[in-house]
Amino acid sequence: MSASDSRPIGVFDSGIGGLTVLKELALQFPEENFLYLGDTARLPYGSKSPQTIRKYSEQNIQFLEKQNVKAIVIACNTASTQVPEHEFAGLPIYNVIDPGAQRALELSAERRIGVLGTRATINSQAYTAKIKELDPKAEVFDQACPLFVPLAEEGWDSDPVTNLIVYRYLTPLLQNHVDTLILGCTHYPILKNSVARVTGSSIELVDSGEAIAKWLDKDFKQGRLHKNTSGETRQIQILTTDHSAHFTEVAHRILKPVKADGFKVVDL
Ligand code: DGL
Repeated sequence: MSASDSRPIGVFDSGIGGLTVLKELALQFPEENFLYLGDTARLPYGSKSPQTIRKYSEQNIQFLEKQNVKAIVIACNTASTQVPEHEFAGLPIYNVIDPGAQRALELSAERRIGVLGTRATINSQAYTAKIKELDPKAEVFDQACPLFVPLAEEGWDSDPVTNLIVYRYLTPLLQNHVDTLILGCTHYPILKNSVARVTGSSIELVDSGEAIAKWLDKDFKQGRLHKNTSGETRQIQILTTDHSAHFTEVAHRILKPVKADGFKVVDL
């Protein structure tokens, strides 16, 4: 049996979206400690240049590294497009693009895949490149949805305004008869009900949390990561770079039934 490693898994996003990934990981790995960083002071990332996104992402990684995490999950598609490395100073780093692309191909019978994302993610063409690398015959259709992040941050899931905006973004994309749709931004699962209302049940939705959880599971099994087998009650700490009571309120809602043990504001 491999040695126990009780160091937390670091998870970061620009804001609240990465909590959809944290929730999935926390449910899947109930013995693991987690340290979440939401860079709320600098949100959104999706409208910024690749250089700025890379700079912010590297600062987040360096900050988490100093907190003595055992691995880092980039729970942000936009940041993942700029930090594709799988390792940073010896620390395993997980991006969410590769698992999402692979999961979409596992689910798509027709090889017609839609990708929703921030402007920066769609402009990077990271999903298209990865999907085509894995299956050159697959066809990819994408759509930037810049209004989704503020709606998710606002906590407006299933709101009539959200439904209308989702309809507006998705209608042209669905004319391409995709059978699988990647929610290529970790904020988007918060709006999943509104998205599913427009796509109907015949289109498979892929979200970053489920996809990355499978990858971590594989790495735990293969010994690249060591489990926390200390038997102590695990801790989930949430850090943000700006103070907001609204963030805390929406975070509790997104994480449910997972409970956060503490919220703290930090300066990177
Ligand atoms: N949650 C981030 C993502 O997955 C983007 C949010 C933002 O634009 O900051 O792409």
